[in-house]
Amino acid sequence: MPVYLDNNATTSMPAEVLDVMLPYLTTTIGNPSSVHRYGRFSRQAIDDARVQVAALVNAEPSQVVFTSGGTEANNLAISGSCKKWHNAALAIAATEHSSVIEPARLQALDNTVLDMIDVNAQGQVTVAALKQVLHDNTRLISVMLANNETGVIQDLQPLLNIAQQHNIWFHTDASQAAGKIEVDLKQLPVQLLTLSSHKLYGPRGVGALIIDKNIEIDPIIVGGGQEKNMRSGTENIAAIVGFGKAAELAKQALQSRVELLSQMQSQLEAGLTQIASVKIFAKDEKRLPNTTLFAIDGIEGETLLMQLDKKGFAVSSGSACHSSKVRASHVLQAMGIDDLTGSGAIRVSLGIENNSAEVDGFLSAINEILETLRPNLSLNVS
Ligand SMILES: Cc1ncc(COP(=O)(O)O)c(C=O)c1O
Repeated sequence: MPVYLDNNATTSMPAEVLDVMLPYLTTTIGNPSSVHRYGRFSRQAIDDARVQVAALVNAEPSQVVFTSGGTEANNLAISGSCKKWHNAALAIAATEHSSVIEPARLQALDNTVLDMIDVNAQGQVTVAALKQVLHDNTRLISVMLANNETGVIQDLQPLLNIAQQHNIWFHTDASQAAGKIEVDLKQLPVQLLTLSSHKLYGPRGVGALIIDKNIEIDPIIVGGGQEKNMRSGTENIAAIVGFGKAAELAKQALQSRVELLSQMQSQLEAGLTQIASVKIFAKDEKRLPNTTLFAIDGIEGETLLMQLDKKGFAVSSGSACHSSKVRASHVLQAMGIDDLTGSGAIRVSLGIENNSAEVDGFLSAINEILETLRPNLSLNVS
C-alpha cells in the first residue's frame, strides 16, 4: 500500500467511527423529524453527536448546525450573513479556502462590497492589514484559523479584538485546525466557526457551522426547516453520528496526536533541510503539527508528485494549473511567492496513522528522485 501523506485533503476513518455509523446505514430506520419512536431514536442520535461536536470546540450543543461539510458551512457563514444586510462590506483574507472566497465573490455581485485582506510573507493577516480594509459598513470579517496549504496558524486574537471594537462579526474556518490544535470558543469567541468531519478522521460529506447564540443569519438551504431552520433537508444521520464520534476521539486524543505529529514533522523537516536548495514555506511561523509545504529549487511540483507516487508516497502539490501554465497557488501568491518557486510546492500532511519509518522512507525517496532528476543536488539523508 502506498504511504498516505495527504491528510489535509482527507483522513482515514478508524473502526470506532465506522462502528457507530453502521447501524444507521443498515438496520436502523427513522426520519429524525418523525414523531414515532423510530424518529425519536434518530433524533436522539443526532443530538448526542451535537453534544460531542460542541464539546470539541467548547461550544453549546444548541450552537451546532450540521451541514454537508466545511464547504457548505463556509457558504452558510458568508452568504447567510450577507443576506441579512444591505450595502454592507465583507472582509476576507486573501489566503482563504475557495469555499469562502467563492461565496464572498457571489455576494460581491449582489449588494456587498468585498475587501480582500493582504497577508504578510509568512501568511499572517496583521492588524494593520485588517485595519486598512475596514469601512464604516464592514459587517463581517472571515479569516481562517489554519491554512490548508501552508499549515500557518493565524494569530486571531488581535484581529478579533479589532472586530469587537467595531462591532463586526467574525467568522473563522477551523476545518484544518480542529483536531490538530486546541480550538476553544470560550477563549476565542468568534460568532461563526466552520468544522469539517473528514479532516479529523470522521466521514466525508458532513461538517458543521457553529453559530453564536447572539446573532442571527439566514439559511441558504430552505425547505422542511431542519436544524432549527438553518439547514433544511433530512439529516445524514450515519455521517453525523460518525462526525460526533470522531470529534469525541479528537478531543480525547488531542495531546497525544499533537506529540506524534510534531515529532514526525520535526524529523521530516530536519531531513528536508539537508537537501540542497529546499525551501519550506512559512518555516518559522506557528504551523499545524502535521503540515509542511516545501519546494526544491528547479524541480516542478507536479513532476516530483508523480515520481513520489511511483515510489509509493501520496502527497499533494501546492500549485495551481491555469490553461496549462503552472502557477503558484493563490495562497503562495498572496505571500509574495513567485510562480517559479510556487510551482515547485509539495505539501506533506501527516496523519495519526503515519510513523517515523514512513517519514524516513519518504526522505529516501526524495533523495533517489533527485539523484535521477538532478544528480548534483541531493545528500544522503537516511
Ligand atoms: C480550510 C478548508 N476549508 C474548507 C474545506 C472544505 O471542507 P469540505 O471538504 O468538508 O467541504 C477544506 C477542504 O479542503 C479546507 O481545507
